[in-house]
Amino acid sequence: MGKIVINTGGTSGIGLETARFLANKGCKVYELSRRENGTDVAVHIQANVTDENQVRNAVESILRQEGHIDIVINNAGFGISGAIEYTDTEEAIRQFDVNFFGMVRVNRAVLPIMHRQGHGRIINMSSVAAPIAIPFQAYYSASKAAVRTYTLALYS
Ligand SMILES: NC(=O)c1ccc[n+]([C@@H]2O[C@H](COP(=O)([O-])OP(=O)(O)OC[C@H]3O[C@@H](n4cnc5c(N)ncnc54)[C@H](OP(=O)(O)O)[C@@H]3O)[C@@H](O)[C@H]2O)c1
Repeated sequence: MGKIVINTGGTSGIGLETARFLANKGCKVYELSRRENGTDVAVHIQANVTDENQVRNAVESILRQEGHIDIVINNAGFGISGAIEYTDTEEAIRQFDVNFFGMVRVNRAVLPIMHRQGHGRIINMSSVAAPIAIPFQAYYSASKAAVRTYTLALYS
């Protein structure tokens, strides 16, 4: 297959299994996350998706190295729980900053590259919590609903 993949949050859980699957199919996977050291299935780049410069630097270094970027998986995310009235606004903002704006930053960095190449695939990780709102996870559900609707707009 030989595709170049950017996978955010590829050091754990779904992201790690996705990286493993794609690497086994012959893809070269670059994974972006906050921790210093990554896994043995992907090339690790330490980058926080809430930091525009770190995201841009990571994407530019991959492009310099490979010359093209074929697939992007916006997987990095987390969920907060708690009653709405006891959740600080700052916490709610942070939920969106990672789950929604993290994806926005990565896509703003890669979309011009994909347009120039004339090809590319973007996968944005939403959740069943988008169409089915989860009690006490209002901000997680809302952030994933934002990801879902943004993605529908991106592909329409
Ligand atoms: N698990 C589920 O049942 C489920 C269901 C539906 C949707 N999802 C979605 O699927 C995705 C993965 O879920 P998971 O359960 O596999 O999560 P997980 O095991 O907690 O892994 C999250 C990954 O995201 C990275 N990450 C977190 N914050 C980041 C940031 N600010 N910048 C860069 N990387 C960051 C983490 O690495 P570092 O700690 O090194 O940064 C880690 O690699 C999430 O978007 C989640 O909302 C999960």
